[in-house]
Amino acid sequence: MDGLELLRQDHDKVRSLFTSFREAADAEDSSRMSDLCSEIFHELEVHTAIEEEVFYPMIHDAGGEDLTEHTDESYEEHHVVDVLMEEIRQLSADDPTFKAKMTVLMENVEHHASEEEDEMFPQVRELFSQDQLESLGEELMASKTRHEASAMTKEELVEQAREMDIEGRSNMTKDELAEEIARRSGS
Ligand SMILES: [Fe+2]
Ligand SMILES: [Fe+2]
Repeated sequence: MDGLELLRQDHDKVRSLFTSFREAADAEDSSRMSDLCSEIFHELEVHTAIEEEVFYPMIHDAGGEDLTEHTDESYEEHHVVDVLMEEIRQLSADDPTFKAKMTVLMENVEHHASEEEDEMFPQVRELFSQDQLESLGEELMASKTRHEASAMTKEELVEQAREMDIEGRSNMTKDELAEEIARRSGS
């Protein structure tokens, strides 16, 4: 898959989770807000990790000064989101500042994702061939599988390994399971 398309799909998934979160917030449904918050944080962690691991290093020096600056700013915008997530993790969904902090986080992410799509992606599309964007997609997907796997518990990994018919799964450590699952998913 085209790497830019993969990143855009991630953005859309997060946008739709934000819509659900805002609905839960309007309904003052704390338990739904809390569930959605966990899901949102997981998506954001995996997405920012794969961008920082694969996408940003590839584009940082590929174009002009403009793209380099934009990429540098993007790392910092991810960092702001990290700090906000860390603060929100300390709060319960009933806390009066929870909703306010989540609102700021969502606005930040929406702004960041729009800038990537409207300013960064068009430049990247001009700089790289379709073949390069397809292999970017493969690398992003492999990185995503690895990060998804490392966020799973040992029990979840064993279950996934069973579904994939991975031999020797019961004697593997958590890291070995995650690596083997990622390796097979990538091939
Ligand atoms: Fe980003
Ligand atoms: Fe992004």
